[in-house]
Formats: sequence, C-alpha cells, structure tokens
Amino acid sequence: MATVAIVSQKGGSGKTTLALHLATCAAYDGRRSCVIDMDPQATAAAWGDWRGSFLPEIVTCPPARLLSTILKAQRGGTDFIVLDTPPQSDMASREAVRAADLVLVPTRARAFDLHALEATAQLVSFANKPAHVVLNAVPSRATRLLIDTKAQVEKLGLSVCPVHFGERAAFHRAAASGEVASEAEPEGKAAAEVDALWDWVSAELKLSPVS
Ligand SMILES: Nc1ncnc2c1ncn2[C@@H]1O[C@H](COP(=O)(O)OP(=O)(O)O)[C@@H](O)[C@H]1O
Ligand SMILES: [Mg+2]
Repeated sequence: MATVAIVSQKGGSGKTTLALHLATCAAYDGRRSCVIDMDPQATAAAWGDWRGSFLPEIVTCPPARLLSTILKAQRGGTDFIVLDTPPQSDMASREAVRAADLVLVPTRARAFDLHALEATAQLVSFANKPAHVVLNAVPSRATRLLIDTKAQVEKLGLSVCPVHFGERAAFHRAAASGEVASEAEPEGKAAAEVDALWDWVSAELKLSPVS
C-alpha cells in the first residue's frame, strides 16, 4: 500500500484539488484508492457527497485517529491512500507526514504563499520523508516567475516536482459537480497535467502495474 500526504500551511493552495485528482487517477488505474480527509471543513468529503457512489472513497478522520483509519482502510483492501490536510494545523500535518511514503506540498507562486512554505518546509524536514513542492495555478507564459519560484523553493531545502499545474478553470468547474478535470474536460490542459503528475507520482512510489 502507498500513502501520499498533501500538506501546506496555506489555505487555498490546492491541497484538496490535488488529493482528489490523485486518488481518482489511482481509481481509474484500477487501484482501490481512498482520500482520508483530515480537514474539519471536510471539503473533500463534501465533494464525495456531490459525486455520489463513484470512486474514490472519501473518509473523514481527526488526526488522533489517522493510524487506525489507515489500518482499517488497508484491512479493507485499499492500496492507495491520499491524506488531505487542513491549513494551519501542525498536528494534522505532522501526523500525515509521519504516515506518508511521499509528501506533496502544493503552493501558488506568490509571495505570501512562498512565505507560508517556510513553516511547511520545517515540518517536512524533521520527518525526513521524500517531499516535493507542486507549483499550482501558475499563470501562462510566466517563465521568469517559474524560474524565480523554483529557486526560492530550493533555497528552503525542498525539491520542486517537475510537473506543475497552470491556472485552469476546469479544476473549479469540475469540483462543483463532484468531478475531476478529466471528466469535466477530457481533452483539456488540466486533465493532461494531472495525468503527467500521476505518472510521476507512480514512478516515485515505484507502484507496480495493476494486473
Ligand atoms: N490550478 C488551479 N487552477 C485554477 N483553480 C484552482 C487550481 N487549483 C485549485 N484551484 C481552485 O482554488 C480553490 C482552492 O483550492 P483547494 O484545493 O480547495 O485548496 P486547499 O485545499 O489548499 O484549501 C478551489 O476553488 C479550487 O477549485
Ligand atoms: Mg482543502
């Protein structure tokens, strides 16, 4: 079983979007995937309600119940778990990072977001887990911004995921109807970016092909 934690101390950075898309990619790949929603706002769980009975499964859980919730999912046959965490909660982020095989930190390439990244960088460095920043909602043709942001992220001791997401309306359009970008706009750029990220995550985790 593989577990990916999505953490960032900043609200609106794209944690829930990333969590739902990765878990849905895993489900389309034929894996039993599940999002564990640790955010008291329960946005991922609300999306699951709008979605109805389609995969992935979404369960809510407070930080103190994380390990038992993971074990229960594993016993039930889940083989890919994504942990969606709240902003500004050291405890939830710490527990999620501790349970994870891979940590992804979505961030927008803006000064305030990069400032908030410092706290997240400290948190993941203590845990000594593979952690990568996923740049999100990058404006088109922002080559200079991308180069500068990557340099700033690396200065914090974090590595930058080679796949980033552009500013794509498909993400919030899809969310409102309990869908992911590839369902709302199969040929769109958002869908292609998510596919590329899923390929990269699968390789990082060395996921074996589904038989
Ligand atoms: N790449 C993107 N392009 C456009 N909108 C995005 C993108 N990523 C996320 N969003 C939107 O930004 C808002 C915040 O994203 P969300 O995933 O809820 O962040 P968080 O969970 O970190 O608070 C949502 O409305 C979401 O649809
Ligand atoms: Mg969220």
